[in-house]
Parts: sequence; structure tokens; C-alpha cells
Amino acid sequence: MKKKILILSGGISKERLISLDTGQQVAKELKKNGYKVKITEPDHNLKKNIKNFKPNVIFNALHGQFGEDGYIQTILEQFNIPYTHSGVIPSSIAMDKEISKKIFIKNNIKTPKFFTFSYDMKVQNLIKKIEKKLSFPVVVKPLNEGSSVNVYICEKKNVNKILKGLKNYKKIMIEEFIGGREIQVAIMGNTKLGAIELKPKRKFYDYKAKYNSGAKTEHIIPVDLPKKKLSQILNMALNAHKVIGCKGVTRSDFKYYQGTFFLLEINTQPGMTKLSLVPEIAEHKGINFLKLIEWILKDASTKR
Ligand SMILES: Nc1ncnc2c1ncn2[C@@H]1O[C@H](COP(=O)(O)OP(=O)(O)O)[C@@H](O)[C@H]1O
Ligand SMILES: [Mg+2]
Repeated sequence: MKKKILILSGGISKERLISLDTGQQVAKELKKNGYKVKITEPDHNLKKNIKNFKPNVIFNALHGQFGEDGYIQTILEQFNIPYTHSGVIPSSIAMDKEISKKIFIKNNIKTPKFFTFSYDMKVQNLIKKIEKKLSFPVVVKPLNEGSSVNVYICEKKNVNKILKGLKNYKKIMIEEFIGGREIQVAIMGNTKLGAIELKPKRKFYDYKAKYNSGAKTEHIIPVDLPKKKLSQILNMALNAHKVIGCKGVTRSDFKYYQGTFFLLEINTQPGMTKLSLVPEIAEHKGINFLKLIEWILKDASTKR
């Protein structure tokens, strides 16, 4: 008999809508193939829903805060039901761009230079620090968001305005701006699934470039790279996946500039709509959407 799958989607992060989309599409594919599926929010009814539905596996389709950062994983660990993607600690490390970048550096995985800023520093001093340690433009981003939410390419004249808009975050990352190409790599367990290049028509790969089909970001697969370079970026992504301790599927986001790859971040809950990048990379490797989902379900476990 086909298994019962509980899909967790929605949540209260800024990526709620993307998560609902991921949840719907995974559910549709599974239902079409005979699975019993229930979609649920990670709210106060979760325990009751699990008790009533008695799923064989919980598919975590959440993105962003509380769904990708170890919170929900901590809750899922108590139910003794296999759940998908990374566990508590790797999720929380990967979601924190400062901590994960420090781990990348320790493991010789190149990442853009950066420092963090909290609001006890005067803006004038911040500008001085940027000019001393990095140079304008810099990239300003929250430590723990996704989908390019509140990521800005920042010139000197915009520092004040951008920081004002980010007042709700305790700490902000200020990162060296890396020009060049945008390449992302999918890892599936211990397997290097492949890479895809994104050519946004917009200034950078921002929220609209990611999700508005009208923004017309071009997806290029296979990526045009010399064999040696391709193998280098795939190895960097696998290494990042391993040193953080990730499970299941991850997607690592890189910039490629003048022969050097820079790892921006690793995503433990990559988008899983039919148009998302990991399914596209998998498809190119001959793993269709259903097979990819079934692999993720099979890989699920109670202690991640
Ligand atoms: N240091 C950087 N240099 C150039 N572009 C960057 C840099 N950091 C981020 N970006 C752009 O912003 C996008 C989102 O940044 P990322 O660090 O991946 O955060 P998110 O978690 O929101 O996806 C990247 O895909 C890239 O287009
Ligand atoms: Mg990213």
C-alpha cells in the first residue's frame, strides 16, 4: 500500500507563499501517484493532525524562519516519525549566514568577505569601516532570510536609507559585492546532482527575478564551464553540505568571478515547485519530479 505523507507548508516566514506553492505541487504529484496526502500548517493543530492522520513520513515543505532554521525540526524530532531534509543543528547553522560563512572559511570554501553590523554602531562609522575593509558597492542582507528578501546592493549614498528599512533585524551582514555569473548547485545525499546558471534580466537575482515569470530570468543547463571548473564547483557544494552536516537535498548559491567561485549560502529547504531549480537540475540528470520527491521521502528519518 502507498504511504501516507503529511506535508508541512505555509508558516509565518516571509517565504510563506513560496512554501505553500512547494507544498501544493509536491502534494499534487504524490496524489496523482496514489499516495495519501494531507497538507498542514505548522501551527498549534500540528500535534492533533499528526495523531489523527498517522503519516508514515512528514515532508517538510517550509521555507525561511521557523521552518528552515531548526525550530520545526526540533518539534518534529519528538514525534518519532521520519521527516525530510536536514535536522535541527545543520538547519540552524545553514540559516545563519554569519555562522555558516565562518564554517565555510574554516574549511577552505571561499565565500565573499564580510562583517556584521548591529545598530549600536553609528552609520558614519559603518561607512568608514566599509571603505577600509571592503569597498562600495557592498551587499547588505539579513543573516536569516531567504528568497533574496531584504537583500540590497548598496552604494555609499544609499546606506542610510537601506539600513532604516532593516531596523527590525538585530544584526545585518555587510558583504563584498561579487560581480560575474550566478551558478547554483544541487546535492542529493552524497550525490552531486548538478549545476544551473541563472541570468537575471534584473539588476541581480532578487525576489522578482526568482518568482515573476515576467522578469524572465534565463536558466542555463548544462552550465557552460570547463570540466575542471564544473567539478570544482560541484565539489565545493558537496563539501559545504558535508561540513554543515546537511541531510537530503540542498542547494548552494554561488557567484563566479574571474575564475573563482564564491559560495554565498547553502539552502537546506530548497524550493520544490516544478519550476524550482533543484527539480530542474534533477530532471536534467534524468530524475523526474516524482522520483526526486520519492528519493526525499525514502531518505527521511526520525533522527536527522
Ligand atoms: N556578495 C554578493 N555579491 C553579488 N551578489 C550577491 C551577493 N550576495 C547576494 N547576492 C545576490 O543576491 C541573491 C540572494 O543572496 P543570498 O545570499 O543567496 O540570499 P538568500 O538567502 O536571500 O537567497 C544572490 O542570488 C545574488 O544574486
Ligand atoms: Mg540564495
